Amino acid sequence: MNALDVQGLVKRFGGFTALAGVQFHVPAGSITGLVGPNGAGKSTAFATIAGFHTPEAGQVRLFGRDVTGQPPWTLHASGLARTFQIPRLFAGLSVLENLMAAAPPQSGERLPAPWFARGRIAREEAALRAQAMAVLERLNLSRHADAPGTALSGGQKKLVELGRTLMSGARLVLLDEPAAGVNRTLLRDIAATIRALNERDGISFLLIEHDLELVAELCPLVHCMAEGRVIASGSMAAVRADPAVAEAYLGMAVA
Ligand SMILES: Nc1ncnc2c1ncn2[C@@H]1O[C@H](COP(=O)(O)OP(=O)(O)O)[C@@H](O)[C@H]1O
Ligand SMILES: [Mg+2]
Repeated sequence: MNALDVQGLVKRFGGFTALAGVQFHVPAGSITGLVGPNGAGKSTAFATIAGFHTPEAGQVRLFGRDVTGQPPWTLHASGLARTFQIPRLFAGLSVLENLMAAAPPQSGERLPAPWFARGRIAREEAALRAQAMAVLERLNLSRHADAPGTALSGGQKKLVELGRTLMSGARLVLLDEPAAGVNRTLLRDIAATIRALNERDGISFLLIEHDLELVAELCPLVHCMAEGRVIASGSMAAVRADPAVAEAYLGMAVA
């Protein structure tokens, strides 16, 4: 069983073809890498898989189920989450509240709540708070629980985004450049968190990343994209050794 199957995915912006028949898979329970030079179409593939763009052709299957063209909220409810190249936290909320807001809808959100439901709502709220605190502890961010989400460093925000995916009950997480602009220490935290979420919670990951050492460390299977297509798949070592891959990266360096 694959967490994700992408077949013949095509996405055009006006006359420009950003995805020209993208084909790859993410085995269930794996951390799979997606690499390739700038402009290859990696982020567009994420946005299209997650329902933010409608593809002109092709199919997306999530844990065996065809979900092509479904809107982001439906896919999210089916267990698909994504993080962004630049983390997005709610500005008016604390770090803890940012995690709590990522949980599936609670009884208290179906207003107006009848008087007899208030006890249940308070208990749910307390349970949610405890769950969010436990997640913050795992991320080593408990001391920032009450700080505004916006007060965190870029790398810490990325950790919170990972925590949000855990709160949301996601089964497949698309990570767009989790290591970009992050210092080495925090990078180790992020790598360890991804691994723990994968091993302990069974969450599958598709990881876009320019740090090929990190990809080699985390991902047994790597797909390389260039010009809207997957041009090589295999271990990081095999993909690196592929002449088509070298040529694609060289093309970028020359351009
Ligand atoms: N919304 C958009 N409208 C027009 N062109 C876009 C849009 N999004 C991405 N592109 C173009 O698609 C190509 C692939 O971009 P992207 O998916 O961001 O690449 P990557 O993430 O691999 O660097 C680029 O040439 C980019 O300019
Ligand atoms: Mg990108």
